[in-house]
Amino acid sequence: MRKVIAAVLILAFLCLESQEGSALLLDRACGRSYSGTRTNRLANPWMVSLIVNGEVKCRGSLIKSRFVLTAAHCVFTDEMHVHFGTTFSPDRRNPGEYCRLDPNCVRVDKKIVHSEFNNQTQQNDIAILRMQHAVQYSDIVRPICLLINGTGPAVDRFHITDWGTTEARYRIIERIDRQNCSSKFNRQVDESQICVRSNACLGDSGSPMSARTLHMGRYRTFQLGFIIYGLNSCAGLNVYTNVTYYMDWILNVLDNWSA
Ligand SMILES: *[C@@H]1O[C@H](CO)[C@@H](O)[C@H](O)[C@H]1NC(C)=O
Ligand SMILES: *[C@@H]1O[C@H](CO)[C@@H](O)[C@H](O)[C@H]1NC(C)=O
Ligand SMILES: *[C@@H]1O[C@H](CO)[C@@H](O)[C@H](O)[C@H]1NC(C)=O
Ligand SMILES: *[C@@H]1O[C@H](CO)[C@@H](O)[C@H](O)[C@H]1NC(C)=O
Repeated sequence: MRKVIAAVLILAFLCLESQEGSALLLDRACGRSYSGTRTNRLANPWMVSLIVNGEVKCRGSLIKSRFVLTAAHCVFTDEMHVHFGTTFSPDRRNPGEYCRLDPNCVRVDKKIVHSEFNNQTQQNDIAILRMQHAVQYSDIVRPICLLINGTGPAVDRFHITDWGTTEARYRIIERIDRQNCSSKFNRQVDESQICVRSNACLGDSGSPMSARTLHMGRYRTFQLGFIIYGLNSCAGLNVYTNVTYYMDWILNVLDNWSA
């Protein structure tokens, strides 16, 4: 009898513990990929392309089964689609149809731009796209992790994956003092943004910046920011939106638009 009680107690404790841990994640299925190589399409199943009029306009990240996080300046009034997988090829036989017949495309049915987005200074450059329906997770479709409560991994080196026309490129970038970006771009770069130095070319707007860390006994990929602007010189500074800073805004949007 005592053994049974002990077992029940241990089980209850384990359940509590794992629930507590996963409660901190926006989506429990997040941040795990099934590929050994970093540039493989399976390695970044959360990364999506935003398609407008048959063109890739920006990137974004899947954060929940129906929601994609991206930059506000990536939101267009024309019809938008979210494309999963690395290569998007417009349907030449059906001009004007664009994504409609592609099984890897999902139509966007709601665009939520931060109400204080400033197109000039690029302050509050953040938006959420709701897809027409929730997507089924698979090897190539999986959300990236966002921490509901907490600041995320305290790291200064991040990963960014950028999809060139033919291959994915993986790079390590480094956070530097905000003042360096402020003076370089002659704009306010505050806590809501992250200043990064990279020795590679600027990726597409909305591309997620992430770090892989151990969370509740599993390695998971957490999103910390996404590209908003920078130097195109392929050697310099880039500014990212600080996703952690906007966590309350993100949760509020999901609350309001999940139904
Ligand atoms: C932002 O400004 C650019 C030009 O700088 C313009 O093309 C674009 O339409 C503007 N976007 C919004 C949302 O106002
Ligand atoms: C978030 O974390 C703070 C400090 O660790 C804690 O006081 C608060 O209860 C947490 N909130 C939730 C919803 O977990
Ligand atoms: C940032 O700028 C200061 C001077 O403004 C410079 O000394 C420093 O090296 C810069 N840091 C980086 C990481 O570029
Ligand atoms: C991002 O925002 C969070 C929350 O405000 C803050 O704690 C953190 O320091 C910011 N990150 C950077 C690099 O400024």
